[in-house]
Order: sequence, then C-alpha cells, then structure tokens
Amino acid sequence: MSTTEAAVIEQESRLIMNTYARYPIVIDRAKDARLYDLDGKEYVDLLAGIAVVNVGHCREEIAQAIADQARAMVHVSNLFYQKKQVELAERLLETCQADKVFFCNSGAEANEAAIKLARRYMRDVKGRDAYEIISLENSFHGRTMGTLAATGQCGLRRGFEPLPGGFKNVPANDICAMREAVDEHTAAVIIEMVQGEGGVLPLDAAYVNDLMALLKDRDVLLIVDEIQTGLGRTGAFWAHEHFNLKPDIFTCAKALAGGLPMGAMLATEEVARGFTPGAHATTFGGGPVLCAAALKVLDIIRDENLVERSRKLGESTLAMLKELILIHPGKIRHVRGMGLMIGVELSFPGQEVHRALLDKGFVCNLAQGRILRLVPPLIIEQADIEAFVAALNEVLAAVED
Ligand SMILES: Cc1ncc(COP(=O)(O)O)c(C=O)c1O
Repeated sequence: MSTTEAAVIEQESRLIMNTYARYPIVIDRAKDARLYDLDGKEYVDLLAGIAVVNVGHCREEIAQAIADQARAMVHVSNLFYQKKQVELAERLLETCQADKVFFCNSGAEANEAAIKLARRYMRDVKGRDAYEIISLENSFHGRTMGTLAATGQCGLRRGFEPLPGGFKNVPANDICAMREAVDEHTAAVIIEMVQGEGGVLPLDAAYVNDLMALLKDRDVLLIVDEIQTGLGRTGAFWAHEHFNLKPDIFTCAKALAGGLPMGAMLATEEVARGFTPGAHATTFGGGPVLCAAALKVLDIIRDENLVERSRKLGESTLAMLKELILIHPGKIRHVRGMGLMIGVELSFPGQEVHRALLDKGFVCNLAQGRILRLVPPLIIEQADIEAFVAALNEVLAAVED
C-alpha cells in the first residue's frame, strides 16, 4: 500500500464513524467490471458495489442522462408531478405484475414502505386488526429500526432494543413453523427468494408453494424483498418469477438507478389502496436525476439481454465452481446460487482466502464469515470469471488441509 492510500485510511479512521470493516484499498475509479485503486492497481469486480452496478460501472449513456437531467432540473419535491417519474413508473411496472409503485431512496426505506402499506391495507381497507409482520431467520431487510426488527439476525439487533413491536421471526423452509406463527393479527410475511446477506441461500420451491397456499388460505399478504435479487441478478428480471408467484407487495433498490440511491415499493392495485395522500412520503424519492438514471438502466438491461446473460453466465460459473469442490473436497462445503448471485461456502473461516483474492486483484465479498459471495456486474466477461476461478483454485491449493 502506498503512503497516499495509507494517509486516506488513517484520515478515515479519525473522521468517519466506525461502522464498516472496510477492505484495505482506496478505490479511485471504476469502469465496466473493473475497479482501480489510488495506486493504479486493477481489480476484477465480482461484487458490483454489493449487487448495485448490474449494468457495469460508469456507463457513458447513464452519465450522459444524469448530466442532461441535472442541467434541466435536479429537485422539485413530490408536491409536483414530473414526467421522468411517471415514465419510470410505467417502464418498471411493465417488468412485473404489480400495478402501482412508490419511489424512495434505499432498500431499507422500500421495506419500511412495504411494512407500512401492509398494515394500512389490513386496517383501513380490510378493517382487520392485522399488523404483525413475519420474517425468516437469517434474513436481511435493512438497518432502520423497523427493518431491523424484521431482519432475522440477532447479532445485528444487539444493543438497539427495544425495537418496534409486531414482528416475528421463524426458520426458513419450515412450513410447520410458519403455520404456527400466522394468526389473526398477521398482516404479511416478508421473504427474500434468495437470502443474500444470509449467505446466498435460495428458498426451497416446495416451501414457497406451501407458503403461498397458507397465505392465501389465511388471507395474509406476501411481501417479497427483491432488493438484492432484482433487475436480472438471478437470471430472471425478478427472482420471484423463478417461483412462479405474484407478490402482493415487492421491493427493490440497489441496482435500480445504476449506483445512485433509489428504492421502489411495488404493489397490486388492490393492496395499493392502503395508501392515501399523507399516508407516506419522502423528500427525495423518485427525484428526476435518479429516474433519468434508472430509465437508462432499464434500457441497458433490455437492449443487452442482461437477464439472459445473467442466467447463462451464472450456470457456467456454477459449473466451474463445482469443479473446484472435486479438486478441494475438504475446503469447499457447498456452491450454490441463481444467475449471477453465487455463494461459495468454505468449510473454514474465509478471511484469509478473501484477502488473498484481493491481493491477486479479485474483489468479492465474505458473507457470514465463510461464504464468498459473487454478485458481479451482469456485463462481466466470461474470461474474468474464469480468471477468478483459477485464482480461487490457487488460493485454496495454498490453504493447508
Ligand atoms: C435483501 C436486502 N434487503 C434490504 C437491504 C437494505 O438495503 P439498503 O442498504 O439500501 O438500505 C439489503 C441490503 O443489502 C438487502 O440485501
């Protein structure tokens, strides 16, 4: 590390609150599926800013759209109508079976909006005292107090109690536990089709079928958190398509505006009746610059067939990684994923492997301490993935049995 990088790291620790265990690299610029640090070292990016830059870093057409919109109008508030927001709503709703959208600024905010809508709908439209939100163990739904209450990881809640009430947490893929948890006060169940922060864990298809039947039977809403899985990440535009289901509400964020902070909460016409003027709002949500960027993201995903690309490249990547299990049987416990959302579960703590990959110029992420999470830009070249697999092979070979 150069003295310039070391100086930035030292300044950071003096000036910025200590909430992130950052990698010891100062990233200076990014292009497509590449990152460059202050010293000019190049990295292959298999993380995409944590499943954000699905269309790749610094796309010229997005930069142009942002610049053009910034010159025309940056912000006016949601007290006015604006064309870009309506255009984006129309384009986003064309990708799914939802009928209405609410724009906000992050994933956590999208989930907050979903929870609020579910409760309002149950109370005001259905006239039921149903407020409880059931989520799954090991899930991740955000860091605000409400979404933290929904998040099924006790470690993340520690020290922040009391959290808002009206949340229950049950094991994933256990329909009996869910059946017991749902009662007359349940408003909604929230799930990720593939748990991301939890370690890239897809839900069982049979469980999802049973869950759908249960929720229909008990008249409970389904909220799908597509914040990490959305916009082509799993080889379908939305991960819930793999499971052939129509959520009452679903949320997205991360990849939506190509790296600018934007979230969206989408719902059926029926459930959207729960919100009336004043029920929910945000100052920045759906701002014109964000909408201009998101419209370009949707164009790129469509024009470059990135959903299909994610599916195909995901399949070949999984196959390559599964070969590594045969080469290093005691070192990799499991390889799994959908599309370009892939987890390589090591059978030992993964910090050193992760660090060695960084040294070799490959950026991925370590979930739950032992799962290498790969969520690269969907435009990444097959050759880059092959180079990563070769590097992982070398790193694992150097790990003592
Ligand atoms: C599934 C899921 N939900 C919610 C969130 C929270 O999103 P944000 O960090 O934008 O608030 C994340 C972020 O990683 C996520 O992966």
